[in-house]
Amino acid sequence: MPFAHITGWGMYVPEPVLTNDDISKMVDTNDEWIRDRTGIRERHIARENEFPSTLAVEAAIKALQVANLAPTELDLIICATSSPEYIFPATACLIQDQIGASKAGAFDLLAACSGFIFATNMAAQAIRSGSIKNALVIGTETLSRFVNWKDRNTCILFGDGAGAFVLQASEIPGGILSAVMHSDGSGADSLTLPGGGSHHPATELTLHEGKHFVQMDGKEVFRFATRVMGRASIEALESAGLTTADVQWIIPHQANLRIIETAAKYLKMPIEKFVINVQNYGNTSTASIPIATVEAAQKGQLKIGDKIVFVGFGAGLTWGAMVVQWTGPIPAKKLVHPEQYRRFARLRSFARRMLRFIEGLLSRKEI
Ligand code: UT7
Repeated sequence: MPFAHITGWGMYVPEPVLTNDDISKMVDTNDEWIRDRTGIRERHIARENEFPSTLAVEAAIKALQVANLAPTELDLIICATSSPEYIFPATACLIQDQIGASKAGAFDLLAACSGFIFATNMAAQAIRSGSIKNALVIGTETLSRFVNWKDRNTCILFGDGAGAFVLQASEIPGGILSAVMHSDGSGADSLTLPGGGSHHPATELTLHEGKHFVQMDGKEVFRFATRVMGRASIEALESAGLTTADVQWIIPHQANLRIIETAAKYLKMPIEKFVINVQNYGNTSTASIPIATVEAAQKGQLKIGDKIVFVGFGAGLTWGAMVVQWTGPIPAKKLVHPEQYRRFARLRSFARRMLRFIEGLLSRKEI
């Protein structure tokens, strides 16, 4: 049975930064309160012309560059997102088209902030089963579009960004060692974006009632998160036949520094073993774990052979953890340039649109 290795990683955040002081000019809050209660100092916010696919494409190309893999070699793209570009088509399909992943199947996965762990596990299982060789997993968000900038309970928390992993099959043991995924729909109300779906399709009333904004019972989510983070990590470690003593790094979902500190206490692990960057990005939902991983990799913190636990929680409610043995890129003989496929992808996309247009004209004549 092949192993599923993380061979590439990339991240992208939009340039504009929104500080706590900036937010304090919009709602009744202040830098000290936000830092004390969440650890967040600033977050990045997408420009008007940036979308989840825009951010994802940048992160994906970087991940493919690290893996030295051409987009045309990808068999599967899973995009985990809580702020999809549309209800349909899937954001993953927009990414597939823009990077030129001509043979990849692409779909979105919705498990909120746990989505990146769920998606990585799904891609790893597809590789382990032998049905595919190369997968791209992306977490991408422009949650700033769904935040009520008049609600101080939520608008201080979220930020925009994207992170991506390339997963590849290899006979060498390592890579994704175990994963656990959990859900509890009885907590669906605690964190929700109720408007715009089939239950509350957009109307003047839903707009008026603020149903198209993120709604959250912060205390409830906080209690849930502190309960599940440690437990899920232990469960995933046990499933891999490991203990916390074997672990070099924990990379948690970056929602709130206090939640991470509680998990560290539960696991009896020093906080220094936790990769933390919530201060710079806020909660980027599905993108937070890959962004934290990329930063740690770029700083040289992750060494080949390190055992890493990814752990997250989010709306649903959902939560999960994954144990990974860090491997790094598969050594390559020939250098490929994934970024160069973008131009080809644009041409390909245009040609396919034209073809469909001409087909439409011809079929009309036939009728
Ligand atoms: O990916 C999952 C996403 N969600 C989360 O991770 C959220 C988890 N929850 C949290 O992180 C925390 O519950 C929050 C950061 C959202 C809130 O922190 P808290 O310590 O639970 O505060 P609280 O809701 O208990 O509010 C304490 C006080 C309240 O005032 P009173 O009733 O004591 O007078 C709030 O009205 O702080 C007030 N408050 C604020 N004050 C200044 C709430 N938000 C703010 C604010 N600035 N932004």
